[in-house]
Formats: sequence, C-alpha cells, structure tokens
Amino acid sequence: MRPLSRIAGIGHYVPKNLVTNHDLTKYMETSDEWIRERTGIEERRYADRLGETTTTMGVEAARIAIERAGTTPEQIDFIVFATLSPDYYFPGCGVLLQRALKMKEIGALDVRNQCSGFVYALSVADQFIRSGMYQNILVVGAEKHSFGLDFTTRGRNVSVIFGDGAGAVVLQRAEREGQGILSTHLHSDGESAEILAMYNPGTHANHWMPTPYATFDEAAIGQTFFSHKMIEEGQVYPYMDGPAVFKKAVVKFPEVIQEALFANQLTTADLNLLIPHQANLRIAQFVQQKLKLRDDQVYNNIQRYGNTTAASVPIALSEAWEQGKVKENDLVCLAAFGSGFTWASALIRW
Ligand code: UT7
Repeated sequence: MRPLSRIAGIGHYVPKNLVTNHDLTKYMETSDEWIRERTGIEERRYADRLGETTTTMGVEAARIAIERAGTTPEQIDFIVFATLSPDYYFPGCGVLLQRALKMKEIGALDVRNQCSGFVYALSVADQFIRSGMYQNILVVGAEKHSFGLDFTTRGRNVSVIFGDGAGAVVLQRAEREGQGILSTHLHSDGESAEILAMYNPGTHANHWMPTPYATFDEAAIGQTFFSHKMIEEGQVYPYMDGPAVFKKAVVKFPEVIQEALFANQLTTADLNLLIPHQANLRIAQFVQQKLKLRDDQVYNNIQRYGNTTAASVPIALSEAWEQGKVKENDLVCLAAFGSGFTWASALIRW
C-alpha cells in the first residue's frame, strides 16, 4: 500500500494591525456587544494597506512551514494556494508566491473555494503525495479581506466578521504506518451559490439573476464587467444572507465530520482535536454540542482573528500545534463550510 501524506511543517502569519470591535464603531453603526454576542469576535487583524498582500502574508506563513518541515523553498515541488482575495483577478497567488520564494519552475495551482478552500487544497495535495507524483507540496490559505469590505453601515453584517491572515503547511510522505491524512471528504451544493457571493466584477451578465437571495436592485448588477454604478451602489462588495448560511452550516459541519470518522471506523470519542473553520463562534459551539465534544476537543480562535476564510483552518491548526495541543499520534479533524456552498473535512493521524 502506498504511504499516506503527512503535515511535515506548519506555520501562520497574521498582520500586526489589530482592529477591535470598538474601532469599527467609528465607521458604521455597530457595537462591541452585538459583534461579541452574535459572532464571538473581539478583534481581528488587518493587513498593512500598501505593504502587505494576500501573497506576501502567504509567503510569511510558508517560510515558517517550510523551515519547520526541515526543507527549503528549492525542494518544494508543487504549490496549492487557496484564497478568495487574490492579489490579481489573474494570475493567481500561487505563481506570485513561487516568484517571491525563488522556487524552481514548479507547478502552482490556485483554489477558489472560499471558506473550505484550504481543506480542498489539502485534499488535492494529498492525492499528489499519495500517487508519488510529488514529494514536498506547499499548501497555503491566505486572505486580505480588509481591502474589499464595505465599511459603511450598509455592509456591517459582513464587514465586522472578516479578518486578514495566512496559514501554510508542507505535505510529505508519512513516515510511520497509520500516520498522516487518513481521508478527505469534499462536497458542494450550488443551489444557493448567490446566498454568499461577490457578484462583481464578473461575467454573469445577470444570467443567474434575479435570485431569491439578492435583495438589492438585481437589474443593475452585472450589466457590464465593472462600472461606476457598481461602485456607487456598493455592488462590488460581498453579499451574504447570514441567517440562511448559519442554518445550513450547522447541519453540514457535523455531517461532514461524522462522515470522516465513519469512513475510518472511528467515533467522536477518538477525536483529540476538531479544528472547525472559524466562521462564527456560535456555529462552532453548536457543532460541539451536536457532536457532544468536550471543550478540550475543539480549538477556536475567532475571538482574536475574526473569520479569515481560507486561512482560518491553517491558522488555527498552526496555533494549536504551537501550543502543544496537537501531538504525535493525535487524531485531528479539519472541517469547513462556506460560500458555494462547499464544505469539506480531513481526518489526520498526526
Ligand atoms: O465563513 C463564511 C460563512 N459565513 C458564515 O458562516 C456566517 C453565518 N452567519 C452568521 O454568522 C450570522 O448570521 C451573522 C453573524 C452574519 C449575523 O447574525 P444574526 O444573528 O444572523 O443576525 P441577523 O443577520 O439576523 O441580523 C439581526 C439584526 C438586524 O437588524 P434588524 O433587522 O433585526 O433590525 C441587522 O440589521 O442585526 C442587525 N445587524 C447588526 N447590528 C449591529 C447586522 N449586522 C450588524 C452589526 N452590528 N454588525
């Protein structure tokens, strides 16, 4: 049997600029109390506006992961980069990271799966290691949300949630029998694609509109790829029907975690640590309750970073590892749900 792949090195990077809930009240009608109660978020980090990009944060996280894996950028033979906030519409961040780290002319793939992006990226990398095609794969999840949020009261349901940051892992062949990524489970349901989406700029030409979810002037959206009207009317910002996303998330999270455990004939009692995508502390608590997990079986850090989308799972995993909460032989489950909808899990024997 071919060996599994293992996480040989992990790292994360968050910008220095700390933004509290109170800071946001300067721009919009919101309150520390509302944000804490509804999301659990107390503060988040915003990238330096000019000095940092999604790629540069990914590079910082990658440097740490590569060093901890005992390898060098020259030895990396493939890159998978997950983000919804790329430096350019195209090309993707993978090639920018390849350039920044002076890597060889290796393959670089960008994954655009939003909140589940990192788990999807990990799954792709896992297949390449298992098949023997590559030996050292760098998987990155990074976001610079702060550049694309509506900081007026109009956008408050979205903008208070998101933060910036990056996480990265290096995947290599497992060294021991039974060690590594035991399985990954990927899902999608495009029925509600517009429920959590950034419509513009895009080529949709209103083809998919109106939707039951778009609440603003549908006719005005997407007549052109990009227009002054879009900017003026705030149609260039993410749209989210929060309660509808919440309802679906609390069903799909437990489902995909149970699916991973069941596929490996394991149960929640075997789980040392669950790292849920940090979408909302209330969602994570609901999932914990539903699966009857103890507090020490779940790691959350949304309080300090907000929702960093594709970066949230690797940042949380990296922090938990640094704090000694992920030890050799531990069973770790990564799970994510978000825009698309897409959702995914990965079960790892560390
Ligand atoms: O990671 C990507 C996946 N995303 C998610 O998983 C997000 C899932 N959804 C959520 O986390 C929650 O739905 C939110 C945190 C986004 C919103 O919480 P909620 O409890 O569902 O609130 P709501 O959207 O139903 O809004 C309740 C009220 C509304 O006012 P009215 O209509 O009751 O007068 C909103 O206008 O809260 C208002 N509101 C705010 N008030 C203060 C919305 N955003 C804010 C805000 N500050 N930032």
